[in-house]
Amino acid sequence: MKIGYGRHWIGEEDIKEAADVLRSDFVSQGPRIEEFEKALCEYTGARFCVAVSSGTAALHLAIAALEISLGSEGVTSDMTFIATPNAMIYNGLKPVLCDIDPSNFLIDLNRLKEKIRRETKLVVPVHFAGLTCDMEEIEDIARSRGIYIVEDAAHALGSRYPDGKRVGCCDRSDLTTFSFHPVKAITTGEGGAVTTNDESLYRKMLALRNHGFVKNSSGVNEMRTLGFNYRMTDFQAVIGESQLKKLDGFIEIRRNIAEFYISSFNDFPLISFQKGAKESGSSWHIMVMLLDFERNGLDKNEFISGLRQKGIFTQVHYLPVHIHEYYRKNFGYRQGDFLASEEYYKKALTIPLYPKMTKEEMEYVSAWIKTLSVR
Ligand SMILES: Cc1ncc(COP(=O)(O)O)c(C=O)c1O
Repeated sequence: MKIGYGRHWIGEEDIKEAADVLRSDFVSQGPRIEEFEKALCEYTGARFCVAVSSGTAALHLAIAALEISLGSEGVTSDMTFIATPNAMIYNGLKPVLCDIDPSNFLIDLNRLKEKIRRETKLVVPVHFAGLTCDMEEIEDIARSRGIYIVEDAAHALGSRYPDGKRVGCCDRSDLTTFSFHPVKAITTGEGGAVTTNDESLYRKMLALRNHGFVKNSSGVNEMRTLGFNYRMTDFQAVIGESQLKKLDGFIEIRRNIAEFYISSFNDFPLISFQKGAKESGSSWHIMVMLLDFERNGLDKNEFISGLRQKGIFTQVHYLPVHIHEYYRKNFGYRQGDFLASEEYYKKALTIPLYPKMTKEEMEYVSAWIKTLSVR
């Protein structure tokens, strides 16, 4: 048995759509991109969407479109994939990291308030594992101070806010970014998208995606800003559109697996899960289990390799951003800077959860975790 922590599910119907496009005239960006973007708008409730080549490209473009002055600061969670703060650096902003709430792994809003200074022009909340941040509170903190909000929803396509609206509607943010990497809710191989309700940001991102080109009065592509090639291909877009139709079904299965794990470890006081996720509209992107290895007398690496020997491949999301050498060297961060995030890192293990997972696999994983965690 070989069970990974996450896995895509591309069906024959997705493959057929892609094959049809591969036989057509458009194998790079063509007419199917706009269709995918429209489908994402309909799904999320946003007015505009720009599909791009990755979630990282989505973050880069979203922040670029805001045209924030160089040297300003952006605040984000210390517990995120490095692409989130990196996208600030690409845009000439200083990334300011913020500790997490240890119970739900989301940016700690009290600490966020402490990070805000005159130079702060951007906040990027990350809906970690699919659980949404408190956007009402974040909007309160940011709006009155003229701070832009970009939601990093790489984990949260299909998640719902407490009011039932879908992530990506941008009711309480300027822009929202998504990733379609294979372990995400839907995949296009590599891919990403940005949603917004602001037409001028949308137009800027369309240009930035394609070298900063805008058609001039003679219909010729003229470069007006320094852009990039962040185009998605048509065959990726049709896979995305086809996958999107199945997304709610995928999330339903994810939720059932998550509930299975939660109830399965009910009697294990040293094991816990993301607080509030079960009661929320989370898309259950990943299943992070917290195990107090120290109190249990276990070595985390040995535990991980014990599972690996049984064919169970876990992952750790993530090494705290401030621990990465690049962030220590360039921004002066040090071990001990964010205690909640460091404590989380000691305990966190992402265990297998993906829509194609069988009941037998779920039971196998849960049984081995129990066997190896009892001392
Ligand atoms: C929170 C977060 N932001 C951004 C990204 C970047 O997405 P991509 O891998 O599609 O570039 C990821 C991808 O794992 C992510 O988890």
